[in-house]
Amino acid sequence: MPAEPTPTGAHALSTTGGAGAAPQRLAQAALRDLPWEVGIAKPDPAIVVDGVVRTFGGLTAVSVDHLEIQRGGITGLIGPNGAGKTTLFNLLTGFDQPDGGTWSFDGRPLGKLAPHQVARLGVVRTFQLTKALSRLTVLQNMLLGAQGQKGESFLRALVPGTWRAQEKANTEKAMELLRRFKLDAKKDDFAGTLSGGQRKLLEMARALMSDPQVVMLDEPMAGVNPALTQSLLGHVKDLREQGMTVVFVEHDMDVVRDISDWVVVMAAGKVIAEGPPESISQNQAVVDAYLGAHHDAALTIEEEDRVLAEAEESISREEHPDDLRRPGRPDEKGTDR
Ligand SMILES: Nc1ncnc2c1ncn2[C@@H]1O[C@H](COP(=O)(O)OP(=O)(O)OP(=O)(O)O)[C@@H](O)[C@H]1O
Ligand SMILES: [Mg+2]
Repeated sequence: MPAEPTPTGAHALSTTGGAGAAPQRLAQAALRDLPWEVGIAKPDPAIVVDGVVRTFGGLTAVSVDHLEIQRGGITGLIGPNGAGKTTLFNLLTGFDQPDGGTWSFDGRPLGKLAPHQVARLGVVRTFQLTKALSRLTVLQNMLLGAQGQKGESFLRALVPGTWRAQEKANTEKAMELLRRFKLDAKKDDFAGTLSGGQRKLLEMARALMSDPQVVMLDEPMAGVNPALTQSLLGHVKDLREQGMTVVFVEHDMDVVRDISDWVVVMAAGKVIAEGPPESISQNQAVVDAYLGAHHDAALTIEEEDRVLAEAEESISREEHPDDLRRPGRPDEKGTDR
């Protein structure tokens, strides 16, 4: 039973590939045969969530009765803005505490653990807004990722021999990951000089420093130019090939359909649907949840006209701040009272 992360070291990476591929393809096949029901039990769940609730004042941001995440698959987590996706990630990875509920990884309860403890057990996440430290170099960010996920780093630093050996191993591992993510040539550049897409890549690479078993990616493709999107998608698929369990939040349904084995839909804090990607667009609850709420939805002609009119009106007001007779569109000025 793989409970503790493998020891750090350059070769730890290469041992993660290959062997896990066959069972994980079986897991994908098993998912395809499951009923499309909210809370459905998975053949081999890595993460199990029960009754997790998080409120902010009067707002229930998350209220998940039962959710299982299949090991070795890619689960897409979708839902309109404010559905509670990021809050759920925060809770599952120890960055926030719920009002109630339990959740576990491989049967081990994760409640009340700090993020670095959750990471040490094998569950890591990336952030919707990237957390790369812009005034550190790319390599330093990677090394900090390794340290940040090890609670004992301070004690290690007091034992010089151990520390140096650890740092050397971490550096080798970081460079191997940077090569894989094509960031090795940038290792000495400040992270602040990277493009948005490269920062996303760096954050994904950094998350892998602790040899995780479950990787939660919060909008890894957001704000990334199309050239890098394909590369990021490839990296997410690679994680699955290496036997990792991936949960990722994404708004682009083409991307979701392309890489998810299973899709979980949240709205107003709840899971309202789950199933294989093809089941989702046929689901009336999902269609209803997205109506008028999805930030990527194209505007209708009427909406576009209204937005344009409002913009013109506000420009007109700025240009003529004293003209109180301009309540309507600029082209209506001749008919104003
Ligand atoms: N720290 C907080 N304090 C108050 N309200 C919060 C806080 N964090 C989240 N919320 C609220 O909880 C709800 C869920 O937010 P969350 O960020 O989890 O949504 P999301 O599904 O990730 O949305 P998006 O797709 O826009 O990223 C929203 O209404 C949000 O305003
Ligand atoms: Mg979010």
